[in-house]
Amino acid sequence: MSVDFSGLKALNAAAADRHILDLFASDAARAQSFSVEADGLLFDYSKTNIDAAQKASLIDLLEQADVAGKREAMFSGEKINDTEGRAVLHTALRNLDGDDIIVDGTGIMKGVRHVLARMDDFADRVRRGDITSSSNAPFENIVNIGIGGSDLGPVMAYEALRPYANGPQCHFVSNVDGAHIYDVLKGLNPLTTLVIVASKTFTTIETMTNAQTARDWLVERVGEEGISRHFAALSTARDKTAAFGIDPDLVFGFEDWVGGRYSVWGPIGLPLMLAIGPQHFADFLRGAQAMDTHFRTAPWAENLPALLALTGIWHNQVCGHATRAVLPYEQRLVRLPAYLQQLEMESNGKRVSMDGEDLTFNSGPVVWGEPGTNGQHAFYQLIHQGTRVVPCEFMVAKYGHEAGLEHQHELLVSNCLAQSEALLRGRSLSEARDIMSAKGFEGAELERQARHRVFPGNRPTTTLAYERLTPFVLGQIVALYEHRVFVEGVILGINSFDQWGVELGKELAVALQPVLAGTESSADKDGSTQSLVKFLKV
Ligand code: F6P
Repeated sequence: MSVDFSGLKALNAAAADRHILDLFASDAARAQSFSVEADGLLFDYSKTNIDAAQKASLIDLLEQADVAGKREAMFSGEKINDTEGRAVLHTALRNLDGDDIIVDGTGIMKGVRHVLARMDDFADRVRRGDITSSSNAPFENIVNIGIGGSDLGPVMAYEALRPYANGPQCHFVSNVDGAHIYDVLKGLNPLTTLVIVASKTFTTIETMTNAQTARDWLVERVGEEGISRHFAALSTARDKTAAFGIDPDLVFGFEDWVGGRYSVWGPIGLPLMLAIGPQHFADFLRGAQAMDTHFRTAPWAENLPALLALTGIWHNQVCGHATRAVLPYEQRLVRLPAYLQQLEMESNGKRVSMDGEDLTFNSGPVVWGEPGTNGQHAFYQLIHQGTRVVPCEFMVAKYGHEAGLEHQHELLVSNCLAQSEALLRGRSLSEARDIMSAKGFEGAELERQARHRVFPGNRPTTTLAYERLTPFVLGQIVALYEHRVFVEGVILGINSFDQWGVELGKELAVALQPVLAGTESSADKDGSTQSLVKFLKV
């Protein structure tokens, strides 16, 4: 059944002239009634132009789309990814103490917990120096080779949790551009380096090419006989890891019911675990598990993932804002926007509904962002005064980790709050005139100068606030966004768990390689591609 946004659009049109400040003026308790707190996370969506009736209609959408039923179908292992015939069970990876889950007639939790215990044991022994390299040296550096979900989750979480990292240094190589692996390996000693090849399928060309380059680099120093001590693999494809020559004891497997972009909670998270240790990794899982429980049990009006999703639906499908910015006032979340780009855009960037019919509304938005305050000095100009509205999702912690730098944290928080305040209230023409008149401007020039200094305001934002970016909190935040994507996908009636849109480019890249190598002709290509091949062919 296709969702109908016409009622919500009518409600939006009826309130077209309303300013968000009017909503605060007419409801003294708006900040409280349009914010929710769960397990220490505060989500404030009061600075959006959603009123109580619109909120109720948005919540109705959850009922119409049977989000509750689909949510339980996901958690219980039904094959909701029906273009690939797969269950969607990344939540099982953080189901630390819950009931078993049955897939194809078999309980899966025993296997999940067994792999987690193997990861714990491996990470402990590497960190203690009990597992050593071919020259019996402890590993000082880990190079994770993977791309997409086999890179973005671990690198995002590693950067986020650096205050907890006391194991080997981690480095991440993803791009097939030789510059990436060259620059990473250049500074490392092969004798103390462990290479992790992370690939769900173990066929991804970027990853397999980089893995071969790393292998060649290692063989030069440790020889063929030493190589197996320097490689581990994270994959669902044991046959392929064996064919690559990776010791089965150093392969950490998972199943096809873990999607690539949802995989940081299991073996793909191994580099993170090596860096922060199994205890902190368990806290990361516990944070996500707490969000799972909240998502399954909190009523919709207090349900963080559902409300975050509904603000997304309101801004994109109802108001027509095509993008949303994720703006963490947290330097260590520097890779979160990139992580969320894959999570949100690979999941909900679809053109047909579950039953294969063309969508009659827009699917997921373009997601982008950068940590504040850097973004303020780059693209916030457009957010404040551009002609398009960009809904912004701010994130900020009460405390940083840096003793002695509390004054800097205070400045960071002030900036975050100031931006959402400025986007809300704006600056009127008469205020701008007063400012320019005080500077001595008069007449037509005063008017012209003042108009450049007007801020329309009334721009919607949400703020997610938390105490401190601990492993637990990071787990909560990432799971919150996963479930937000799920809820939006269910409302849109699309499959959030496949990614057919990445395939065509991959196929054409494989076909173009021999053309660039000069062994095949470019005659069947379009004119532009032929001319670019001519220019770029070596
Ligand atoms: O190209 C898209 C994709 O399939 C992602 O969904 C996935 O995260 C990434 O490639 C990497 O895939 P793999 O882990 O199989 O190497």
